[in-house]
Amino acid sequence: MTTSVSLGTGASMPIVGLGTWRASEGQVGQAVRAAILSGYRHIDGAFVYQNEAEVGAGLKAMMQQGVVKREELFIVSKAMEELVDCGLVKAIGVSNFNQQQIEAILNKPGLKYKPANNQIECHPYLTQEKLISYCHSKGISVTAYSPLGSPDRPWAKPDEPSLLEDPKIKAIASKHSKTSAQVLIRFHVQRNVAVIPKSSNPQRIKENFQVFDFELSAEDMKTILSFNRNFRGFKMEWASQHKDFPLNAEC
Ligand code: A2P
Repeated sequence: MTTSVSLGTGASMPIVGLGTWRASEGQVGQAVRAAILSGYRHIDGAFVYQNEAEVGAGLKAMMQQGVVKREELFIVSKAMEELVDCGLVKAIGVSNFNQQQIEAILNKPGLKYKPANNQIECHPYLTQEKLISYCHSKGISVTAYSPLGSPDRPWAKPDEPSLLEDPKIKAIASKHSKTSAQVLIRFHVQRNVAVIPKSSNPQRIKENFQVFDFELSAEDMKTILSFNRNFRGFKMEWASQHKDFPLNAEC
């Protein structure tokens, strides 16, 4: 059973992690504690989420209580080459990079650290097959953000498709006696893609980790891949005029 993804550095990353973007202060600490108690060992964070101190406090509490050891944890922030030099971080990756941009980095003369990971939006409406297979062919692991379609994204429009409500996903879920969320998460695990469902709710945090006791058939996977419609919940329109805007490329 796949429970981790290899990074090119020799380190490995637990395949299911807790997403913390939009987990508010006052909530995220208990979400982190619930996740650790449910077995998560991978927490995805970033300075811009404005909650890293509370994430850290939650982790510290779990370590102090002897639930988890520091060396068992895989913590993602959004970090940099000098931190690898200092030994403060073990691997660095990129996010929202398209194939051409990754290629440009890999071809950079004097490249110090190959990106270990590309974190991208990915779910059945945006299956990213080409980009994932390109990254994997270069030994770059992929993490899927927005695996449940981020229904709480503030700019969601009522007419946009909903993964969690999709009857075709629900049908696959009921066939396996699982929830839609569990199918949406398991879809990545079977593609050897790490996945970071966000939840602040201890029940759902637990549910989202119970994805290692069933298997989607090859037919299920094919069906789910056929739902692709290149739909992005994160269009990042505010950056669309930037010369390096990554999301116009086909992959
Ligand atoms: P909540 O934090 O209240 O659980 P994504 O990971 O795609 O960004 O989606 C996160 C959103 O999905 C949040 O609104 C979260 O709400 C909700 N969510 C997380 N887990 C589940 C689940 N198992 N079932 C239904 N909704 C979920």
